[in-house]
Amino acid sequence: MQNREKRIRGAYRASKNYYDKALTGKGLWSKFYMGFLWKVDDWAIRDRLFTHLPDDFSGRLLDVPVGTGLFTAEKYRVLKDAKITALDYSEDMLARARRRFAGADNVLCVQGDVGKLPYADGEFDAVLSMNGFHAFPDKDAAFSETARVLKKGGLFLATFYIKGERKRTDWMVRFVLAKRGWFTPPFWTKAELETILHRHYGTVELDNVNSMVILRCVKGLGDRK
Ligand SMILES: C[S@@+](CC[C@H](N)C(=O)[O-])C[C@H]1O[C@@H](n2cnc3c(N)ncnc32)[C@H](O)[C@@H]1O
Repeated sequence: MQNREKRIRGAYRASKNYYDKALTGKGLWSKFYMGFLWKVDDWAIRDRLFTHLPDDFSGRLLDVPVGTGLFTAEKYRVLKDAKITALDYSEDMLARARRRFAGADNVLCVQGDVGKLPYADGEFDAVLSMNGFHAFPDKDAAFSETARVLKKGGLFLATFYIKGERKRTDWMVRFVLAKRGWFTPPFWTKAELETILHRHYGTVELDNVNSMVILRCVKGLGDRK
């Protein structure tokens, strides 16, 4: 394993006990982190992404990275007809997700690397990626692989950090989160990201809440993979 991957794994191992608390705005530090430094509500963003996955969705869904399953567990209990693969690099985060999804036979937790997905081309109807692309070390591979495993007409739904929208968030990412291994550069502006996405998808819809981009992309018939 390369140093960069080791660092990312170590960072998420270290945070596994407080990750959920930090992101749910509970406690003083979390209120400061989410409310002042980010000024985003991850739950509201999650709800926006999930409007594109109706409760009777019955296809194959890849959730990468699933993390601890914090934002997705409730919805996956409702998506009874979906076949969900929940993949993450960190066994520590996955151990929490496995506990959360216990008894849900529509969810399979898998340890793996988004840059080398062990799936055939076009295997999934939808890919969901929450808070992943700012952490992934090889972002080109992550974009190519998530697009490759999607079938034509398949949906890519994602949210992650973009730079250039909010100074105090950019500072925090650069001087704290990236230094600790929770985030990994390069980071893009909204315009740079749009150019990258058009290489992979026919339809690209981007919106943002402060420094978090919200994406809905569709793999068109003419797309590369
Ligand atoms: C900020 S967490 C997001 C987890 C979850 N989606 C959420 O929103 O709570 C980032 C996750 O990316 C995972 N990760 C980092 N590099 C990865 C890779 N190459 N392949 C798969 N997962 C990776 C980490 O282990 C971590 O669980």
